[in-house]
Amino acid sequence: MSKPTASLDQAQFRRFDESRHNDWVIIDRHFHHYQADACRRVLVHLERLRGDHHGYPVDRYEHSLQTATRAMRADADEETVVCALLHDIGDDLAPANHAEIAAAILEPFVDPLNAWMIRHHELFQGYHYRQFYGQDRHARDAWCDHPAYQRTVRFCDEWDQTSFDPDYDTLPLATFIPMVERVLSRAPFGGLPSVEDTCPAPSNSEESRV
Ligand SMILES: [Fe+2]
Repeated sequence: MSKPTASLDQAQFRRFDESRHNDWVIIDRHFHHYQADACRRVLVHLERLRGDHHGYPVDRYEHSLQTATRAMRADADEETVVCALLHDIGDDLAPANHAEIAAAILEPFVDPLNAWMIRHHELFQGYHYRQFYGQDRHARDAWCDHPAYQRTVRFCDEWDQTSFDPDYDTLPLATFIPMVERVLSRAPFGGLPSVEDTCPAPSNSEESRV
């Protein structure tokens, strides 16, 4: 039986050094559709934090919503509220360095200082518990001259470390969905290059090999 022919909606190469301009036009088109759906996939993943409390008074889902609720009630801007909602989203995949995952998800869409805040929030949050592990709770002060230091201290001290209260009046996810949609539908990194816009199709298809 012969192999099925690849769809016209798929690149035709078997390895990158066989690829042609039109292959990358197809891939680029798929990428933009896929990127546009990122918000839905991120929120599906956030739901995975439901249920497992890891010994904490609330599960990570409640903690995430509660952190975002506190940020919103403190009149934080929308981007910061979204950062608060998603800051622990990597907890089920990489508990030991979950901040890296949240920062990587948010980095293309937010202010670099907010991405830094999320990337470093574990260390800053440690001010409230590192002493119980025999570690220096003031370790975050090594960053005291960093332009994101104060916002990261505020994020952890006022919203993150306080959000383990089972009795808190936490807002539902629906409150935050439009905010997540607006932030994650921004052009990543301010705009990625488009194959069709930046590199017109060559007239001779043989010349289009890369
Ligand atoms: Fe947290």
